[in-house]
Amino acid sequence: VEETYIMVKPDGVQRGLVGEIISRFERKGFKLSGLKLFQCPRELAEEHYKDLQSKPFFPKLIEYITSGPVVCMAWEGVGVVASARKLIGSTNPLQAEPGTIRGDLAVQTGRNVVHGSDSPENGQREIALWFKEGELCQWTPAQAPWLRE
Ligand code: GTP
Ligand code: MG
Repeated sequence: VEETYIMVKPDGVQRGLVGEIISRFERKGFKLSGLKLFQCPRELAEEHYKDLQSKPFFPKLIEYITSGPVVCMAWEGVGVVASARKLIGSTNPLQAEPGTIRGDLAVQTGRNVVHGSDSPENGQREIALWFKEGELCQWTPAQAPWLRE
């Protein structure tokens, strides 16, 4: 089944938005399969954002992501990657729609509180990067029959 890597960035943790952000995915009906608070080492941040290596903001981005603990999450569900990106909203929070996480809770691209994988392939890649095998759970939520016919 499709999986996405969602991460509350250090600003989201520092601002006390962890519960609010987890809630949005939980209430939507996706399934949580991994969750941890984690201080990200520089090498991992660089690997995670390696596609942005040549961007002028890359050093600032690495500094931001490693500046404090993040909350790492793996979420599962049919269509979860694209749906999570919609719940998160545009990269620039000033352009993100009200009702989205960034649209409701942030004001600047460099402090946009949450990450979401941009493709199913990157979802797999990022979950493998941020979680060890024993940290992920296989389980059946009690509400499953009430979410899908
Ligand atoms: P992620 O879910 O974090 O991957 O964001 P995204 O997919 O909406 O955007 P993208 O992958 O293009 O950029 C990754 C992250 O780099 C963004 O979420 C921002 O935190 C940061 N970023 C992107 N563009 C800029 C920029 O122009 N300036 C700064 N300071 N940060 C940027
Ligand atoms: Mg991205």
